[in-house]
Amino acid sequence: MAIKIQLPEDAPFTPAQRAWLDDFLNQTLNEASASTSGSKAVPVTALQSTETSNAAGHAKSIGQQEETHKQEGSEGYSKKRPFPSTVLNNRNLNGPGPKQTHHLEFSLEGSGLQYEVGDALAVFPVNDPVLVDEIIANLPFTLEEVPDRDGNDVSLREALLEHYEIGALSKIVVKKWQAQSASPFLRSLVEADNAEAWKDFCSGRELIDLVIDHPANFNDAKKFVSVLKKLQPRLYSIASSPKAHPGEVHLCVGVVRYESHGRKRGGVCSTFMSERITEDTRPKVFVHQNKNFRLPEDPSTPVIMVGPGTGIAPFRAFLEQLQLNETKSRNWLFFGNPHAATDYLYQEEIEAFLADGTLERLDLAWSRDQQTKVYVQNLMEQRAAELWQWLEQGACLYVCGDASRMAKDVDRALHQLIIDHGGKSENEVKEYVSEMKKAKRYQRDVY
Ligand SMILES: Cc1cc2nc3c(=O)[nH]c(=O)nc-3n(C[C@H](O)[C@H](O)[C@H](O)COP(=O)(O)OP(=O)(O)OC[C@H]3O[C@@H](n4cnc5c(N)ncnc54)[C@H](O)[C@@H]3O)c2cc1C
Ligand SMILES: NC(=O)c1ccc[n+]([C@@H]2O[C@H](COP(=O)([O-])OP(=O)(O)OC[C@H]3O[C@@H](n4cnc5c(N)ncnc54)[C@H](OP(=O)(O)O)[C@@H]3O)[C@@H](O)[C@H]2O)c1
Repeated sequence: MAIKIQLPEDAPFTPAQRAWLDDFLNQTLNEASASTSGSKAVPVTALQSTETSNAAGHAKSIGQQEETHKQEGSEGYSKKRPFPSTVLNNRNLNGPGPKQTHHLEFSLEGSGLQYEVGDALAVFPVNDPVLVDEIIANLPFTLEEVPDRDGNDVSLREALLEHYEIGALSKIVVKKWQAQSASPFLRSLVEADNAEAWKDFCSGRELIDLVIDHPANFNDAKKFVSVLKKLQPRLYSIASSPKAHPGEVHLCVGVVRYESHGRKRGGVCSTFMSERITEDTRPKVFVHQNKNFRLPEDPSTPVIMVGPGTGIAPFRAFLEQLQLNETKSRNWLFFGNPHAATDYLYQEEIEAFLADGTLERLDLAWSRDQQTKVYVQNLMEQRAAELWQWLEQGACLYVCGDASRMAKDVDRALHQLIIDHGGKSENEVKEYVSEMKKAKRYQRDVY
């Protein structure tokens, strides 16, 4: 029986990290339960308590955590002691249009931090000062000192800039807010405790909406910050090979911008990196290992990479690494984005990988360049017979990017091509895919 895990909303992760963890836990536990008859589900709370101290977004076994701690060492940089990095390069990869995806290069010089392709970089954001000032202007206290995330006294402004989440709302925060507020609307929301109503209210609203539309009566600034969540670092799949760029780590960041409830809004970390990093900014970072997203141990194994949008990030790193390998492997990249003219991320580099033979096959899905949408999984369907041959030759399949729709559709396309070209039944295809996962031949980095 399939196990369905959903982390509680107050788990100390961003929504993207929670979605990634839910997916990871469900995948891992369902693989385990498929291979161990009568096995029991692991209680989520038990896993959560082992993770909160050091993982920004990835579930880790206790063994893995110990290994990471050993690697980081008491002197090293980690989540508790992030490295103040320098940004060497920061540019938009898109042409004119609504999409903005930044390529950022961070210096790790002097940090001792090391990474492998497939790892992620965690970045501590700084909130938008304009929004912080607007929040403070609407509060009855301004100059008080409050505890920061570690309990040290800082100004309210510094706390709201660097230590507390002022972006997307969670049910937990709204409930604590309501306890201090006379808002009849919030009272009825909390009393009804209806999942749809919670989703409706929290979606597209931030702390500023509570401050302005549902003022609460906190005695002082300390009480006010006590209801807020601590600002969490965001994870980004590393887009560089350390061998190709010693002392540097590169990211590919999709900038989150949207309009809701009459306001223009931005994702905290993606707008921090795209708009608010100056020469003097030292973004705090640490490396987050992802042993579940690694190139094959045998360098001659064929590699299939599916990464639309920012999902291209780890595959730029893979290709840089493969270019330097002495043993050449067959490999195939599926990339997609709305328009070829403006959204072909890393076009020059990908074309150079093709030209020098690092990349053997390339399929590009430009979703909005014709009337009917074309997605990476549509191209996989068109190439299904060849993909099946690659799989039968032992190819490893990697998927990176959007978890909510793309990764599910790509998974469906994979199952279908195995049915159509491998002649497998519904049950046999599940077994085939499960064996691929066990052999680390189907790895996903989705969020
Ligand atoms: C393992 C991992 C790897 C990742 N790698 C990458 C990567 O390589 N590149 C990359 O760009 N991202 C990556 N991410 C996602 C990244 O960590 C952040 O989640 C992302 O950048 C958004 O963070 P933010 O702080 O900008 O937005 P946040 O401040 O966290 O805001 C995001 C929230 O805003 C709200 N929101 C967003 N759009 C809308 C809308 N249209 N309407 C209403 N509400 C909305 C939602 O509540 C959403 O959860 C990765 C995530 C994980 C877990
Ligand atoms: N949590 C966050 O706030 C946050 C921040 C950044 C990124 N992300 C996630 O990361 C993903 C990557 O963002 P991105 O802007 O780089 O790219 P994206 O939004 O995933 O879009 C990349 C390409 O994938 C296409 N696509 C849409 N639905 C698809 C599906 N079901 N199957 C296959 N392809 C599909 C898009 O087409 P169309 O757009 O034309 O339909 C587009 O051409 C986002 O989708 C999002 O889930 C989340």
